[in-house]
Parts: sequence; C-alpha cells; structure tokens
Amino acid sequence: MKDRNVSARLLPEYGELAEGVGEILISEERLRQRVAEIAHQVSSDYAGLNPLLVGVLKGVLFFMSDLLQSLTIQAENDFIAVSSYSPETRQRGMVRFVKDLEAPIEGRHILFVEDVIDTGLTLSYILNNLRSRRPASLEVCVLFNKPNHRLIEIPIKYKGFDLPDRFVVGYGLDYREKFRNLPFVALLKPEVFQEVK
Ligand code: PRP
Repeated sequence: MKDRNVSARLLPEYGELAEGVGEILISEERLRQRVAEIAHQVSSDYAGLNPLLVGVLKGVLFFMSDLLQSLTIQAENDFIAVSSYSPETRQRGMVRFVKDLEAPIEGRHILFVEDVIDTGLTLSYILNNLRSRRPASLEVCVLFNKPNHRLIEIPIKYKGFDLPDRFVVGYGLDYREKFRNLPFVALLKPEVFQEVK
C-alpha cells in the first residue's frame, strides 16, 4: 500500500468507519454510475416481464436496493440465505439454504443478483437449485467479479466491476461482518487482517 494516510483523510467525512481503510478502488460516484447503467439495461431487457430479482443475503443488500430503485419497470424482489462457506464446504461446493424464497418461481423471469462472485461455487449451487424450479428464465447480475479463484464458469449477463485478488470491503463487502456500510469500495489495510490471524 502506497498511501498509508488514506484513513486519516477520510476520517472527517466517514468517522470511525474509515479506520482500517486504505486505498479507495471504486468511488461512490463510479458505483452510482455503473448501477444506473445496469439498471437501464435491465429495464430495457425485462420491460413487461415483471421480473423477480433474487439476492443471497447479506452482502447484496446495498446493490439490490440501489438497483431496484434505479429500475424504470415493475419488478419484485426476494432473498435467500445460505450457510456461509467454510474452507471445507468451499471444497465440496455444497451450500445449505437457511432461508428460502417466499413463493414458487415456476414460469417467472428470475434475475439472480449477487454482490460478489469468487470461486463460483455458491452461485453454481444456487442456480442449479433455482433452475430445478422451472423458471421461465434465469439470468445472473453480479456487481463485483473476482476472477482469480474461479473454479466454475458461470454465464454472467450483467457485470459491474472486476476486483483484484485483495482484501476489499465496502458497498456490501465485509471483513468479519464489518465495513459493509462503507459507501465506496476500498482496500483493507494489511494490519487489520494481519492482527487477527
Ligand atoms: C459472498 C457472495 C456469495 C459468495 C461468493 O457471500 O454473496 O454468496 O460469497 O463466493 P464464491 O463465488 O467463492 O462461492 P459471503 O459468504 O461473503 O456472505 P455475505 O454476503 O453474508 O457477506
């Protein structure tokens, strides 16, 4: 990390939230712009189809909210929750649903909305599950793509940004459940994750 004083500069505006935060990778403005572009495309592709936007908790909360508010078409949304992966489950690619959708999706146009895709294992498992429920269509919208550890290729229809293989937080991305509510995406200072080894 070149600039070790980033937190100090951010403190007046972001308070204690900025502590531990290094370089800003994606500003609030770039996030807003890209989400608006994706929303424009989705609005055009799904006009008249009343899509159901499905997200997996919890990181997608911020993206889902902003995306929905930027759509210019009728759309509904729902969430699922899955058990967070341990290194063990990550190897097996197994995911356990701890909260399911509220209603059947047979015949519905489903847009699966994710904050981040890394190995692809979580998404692959969830998509297979949703596909078995016979939706009319099933597409994927991912805001942050981390391509370096991909184990399963997933066709992504709408993509926001590629992220480097670093500890990145903000706009839903957490480190030990913290930093999700940063309105931008930033690197975590190495001392933050090094001290909890
Ligand atoms: C993120 C994301 C996916 C998963 C992607 O969730 O929402 O579910 O990681 O990783 P993969 O491509 O390697 O399977 P996370 O476990 O961080 O939970 P969170 O959304 O509650 O932070």
